[in-house]
Amino acid sequence: MRKSTDPIGVFDSGIGGLTVVREIMRELPDESIIYFGDTARVPYGTKSKETIEKFAVEDVEFLLKFNVKIIVSACFTVSSNAMDVLRGKFNIPIFDMIEPGVRAVKRTGKRRIGIIGTYATIESRAYEKRIREEVPDAEIFTRPAPLFVPLAEEGKTRGKIAELVVEEYLKELKGRVEVLVLGCTHYPLLKETIKDFMEEVILVEPGKEVAGMLKEYLGKEGLLSSGPPRYSFYLSDIPRKFGEIGERFLGRKLEGIRVVREWIT
Ligand code: DGL
Repeated sequence: MRKSTDPIGVFDSGIGGLTVVREIMRELPDESIIYFGDTARVPYGTKSKETIEKFAVEDVEFLLKFNVKIIVSACFTVSSNAMDVLRGKFNIPIFDMIEPGVRAVKRTGKRRIGIIGTYATIESRAYEKRIREEVPDAEIFTRPAPLFVPLAEEGKTRGKIAELVVEEYLKELKGRVEVLVLGCTHYPLLKETIKDFMEEVILVEPGKEVAGMLKEYLGKEGLLSSGPPRYSFYLSDIPRKFGEIGERFLGRKLEGIRVVREWIT
């Protein structure tokens, strides 16, 4: 039996998912959160679908040890490649990052849509397929933007290098799209530079939308917590500069970090 005081479980391939946790904390400040970041095996975005599915199953199995009331796949790569496997295997509701993106796109009422993400996300065409179901006359332009990940981790989100990379990836989308889906955990950190280059475009951040969807869902199920919130962050490795990078992604001090290695095979 799920209880309102049970934590929300959130997982990602690494620390990028903290941008999603940040939105959940903002929207649901009384909820407890258990985060798992598979920092030993990141990135997922360049791996095969089979490997992404295998890792995603292990990530969920880890979170289930904590009696979580719901799970969020903050990783867009998992969300676009492994949800059928996860939903087929586990009974617990698992929120992904595709549906919130599609919902936000639909609300804009626009039809020229750009999507950027990791190679695995873009090649899966998960966003494309779902957007076409909701906006049948959509014109969709996609582009993998892998270098945004190290730029965000290095804190190089403003200035010359970021501007060059943004231009390189987005020059073909500029002027063509009215909406751009930031389809990766790391991309919200680059949104100012992206906005400056793309000018009029509406940026969609699925992390913001998923926080609202969680609130709706928990309210409907009578599972909203009245606090106090507790936060734990589990990682499969402690990467270099983790604290500094993590705090930038989360937007606040990162406490309660633990390393788990035993379940990695
Ligand atoms: N978290 C991944 C995503 O949102 C980006 C990093 C990776 O490739 O694992 O797609």
